[in-house]
Amino acid sequence: MDQTKIVKPETLNDLIKTLHKIFESDNINVEEVQSIMEAYDSNPQEWMKFAIFDQYRYTRNLVDDGNGKFNLLILCWGEGHGSSIHDHTDSHCFMKLLQGQLKETLFDWPDRELPGGMVQKSQRILQENQCAYINDSIGLHRVENVSHTECAVSLHLYSPPFQTCQTFDQRTGHHDTVKMTFWSKFGERTPYETTAQENN
Ligand SMILES: [Fe+2]
Repeated sequence: MDQTKIVKPETLNDLIKTLHKIFESDNINVEEVQSIMEAYDSNPQEWMKFAIFDQYRYTRNLVDDGNGKFNLLILCWGEGHGSSIHDHTDSHCFMKLLQGQLKETLFDWPDRELPGGMVQKSQRILQENQCAYINDSIGLHRVENVSHTECAVSLHLYSPPFQTCQTFDQRTGHHDTVKMTFWSKFGERTPYETTAQENN
C-alpha cells in the first residue's frame, strides 16, 4: 500500500476492512494505521450498537477480532470514569476518539532502584476523531473522561491481542496483573460471570 496516500474509510465497516488488509502483514506501519483511523469520521449510527455503557465504570466492548491479528474495541466512558495506570503487554495500542474528549496522562515505568511515586511525563486532551498511539517503550498511561457532563466513546486497536496487562499504583509504583474482559462482544452483552471489568 502506498503509505503517502491514505484512502479515507467512509464507514466503520470500511475502516475494519482496511484494518484487516493492513494487519495481514506482520510489519505494521504505526503512522499508516494511525492516519487511517484518524481519517474515519465518527458516525454514531455506525457504532452505537457496540457502545454499551455501565453506570459505575468504563466498559470494554469487542467490535472485531481482526482474524486473530488484532482486537478492535469500543470503550464507553461515563462522566468521571477513568482507567488505572497500565501497560500494553508489548502490543501496539491505537486509541481514536469517537465522541467527547479523553485526558491521557503518560508515565515512565517505575524504577525498581528508586521506589516511590511514579513520574508523570505529559498530559493531553484527545479530541473527537483524533487517534493516539502508545506501546510499552513509550511508557504507561492513564485515560480519563474528566467531564462531569459529557460521556466519551473511544475506538481501540490492540495488536497482537492480549489477555492480561499490568496496572500500577501511582503512589508506590507497585503493579498487579489483571485479566482483560469484555462487557459485550459483537454488540451482545457478555454473560454476567465473565464481566468482572479490568483495565487497559
Ligand atoms: Fe491503554
